[in-house]
Amino acid sequence: MSVTASASQSGPEAADRRPSFDALRALVADDMAKVNETIIREMHSPVALIPQLAGHIVASGGKRLRPMLTLAAAGLVGYEGSRHIDLAACVEFIHTATLLHDDVVDESNLRRGKDTANAVWGNQASVLVGDFLFSRAFQLMVADGSLKVLKILSDASAVIAEGEVHQLVTTNDIETTEAAYLQVIESKTAVLFAAASQIGAVVAERPESEERALESFGRNLGVAFQLVDDVLDYSAQQEALGKTVGDDFREGKMTLPVILAYAAGDAEERAFWSRVIGDMEQDEGDLAFAQALMAKHGTLAKSLNRARDYAEAAHRDLDLFAPTAHRRAMEEVIDFCVDRAY
Ligand code: IPE
Ligand code: IPE
Ligand code: MG
Ligand code: MG
Repeated sequence: MSVTASASQSGPEAADRRPSFDALRALVADDMAKVNETIIREMHSPVALIPQLAGHIVASGGKRLRPMLTLAAAGLVGYEGSRHIDLAACVEFIHTATLLHDDVVDESNLRRGKDTANAVWGNQASVLVGDFLFSRAFQLMVADGSLKVLKILSDASAVIAEGEVHQLVTTNDIETTEAAYLQVIESKTAVLFAAASQIGAVVAERPESEERALESFGRNLGVAFQLVDDVLDYSAQQEALGKTVGDDFREGKMTLPVILAYAAGDAEERAFWSRVIGDMEQDEGDLAFAQALMAKHGTLAKSLNRARDYAEAAHRDLDLFAPTAHRRAMEEVIDFCVDRAY
């Protein structure tokens, strides 16, 4: 997967290197060190299983994209206080809690290149520690004291859960529409990207227009991110991805590459999709055949093109802001999200 260098990239080096989030990571490195301190401190509990299990997923790494967005947005608008630190940690706690729950729901065994928490400690422990992290996130919001921030992040949490349930009811439903799929990914993924970005402007008490632009930037970026994630589930190198390729297929998830392949398929191909996704009757070789049908109809490429459309919209959202190092780094993050392998 590669995108052509976007107009926002400048300099002679831009064309021959892949976009990354290194520039943004470097810009927010000091803040991120403090965010990590908050994360370690706040996952502490006298009940040893909590820091043990939470520590397992936290220490496995992860890109820390969402807290980075909060720090980046705060930097973009020139915020000089310190509220963004604990709120960024809070955002990562919400994300981590959803991952713990998601891996139970999806019966996943690999995350961030390691055994999932449910694979090591079982479903019960994962669900309960996920609840703990969610609750900790709310304690951090209350400690921040802003009802506005509390509203943004609590609304986002409810919508994420709603999106996961919506996805559950579309699983194995071969008639799922593209519109329903887009609603699912906007809810389960994009809304947290949006909230994470928006609160950077909220803590800085910036005008509504900037808040809205950052919210929209995060939302568009999040949709692009999940579209790419759903492509990677069929096309990635597992080592790089750190998750099991083909999980969505084995679970019967109606992601865009499947929706488009079903729509483009002839009667025989549709019967195949109905059997493997609708009826969950899967044999060896079915994943490879599904991938071949996706190649035949170009549905991974089409899904990536959709991601690029959302990425372009995210770029436009940043037009409102002065062309600072923060803005350039955020623009590169957009391109990374489309061009990523993990
Ligand atoms: C995984 O998100 C969940 C999705 C929305 C696809 P990330 O890919 O950001 O996960 P980590 O935090 O980097 O592991
Ligand atoms: C991630 O969704 C969970 C949330 C966004 C809440 P997925 O199930 O699609 O992501 P991975 O592939 O497990 O990371
Ligand atoms: Mg999953
Ligand atoms: Mg899932």
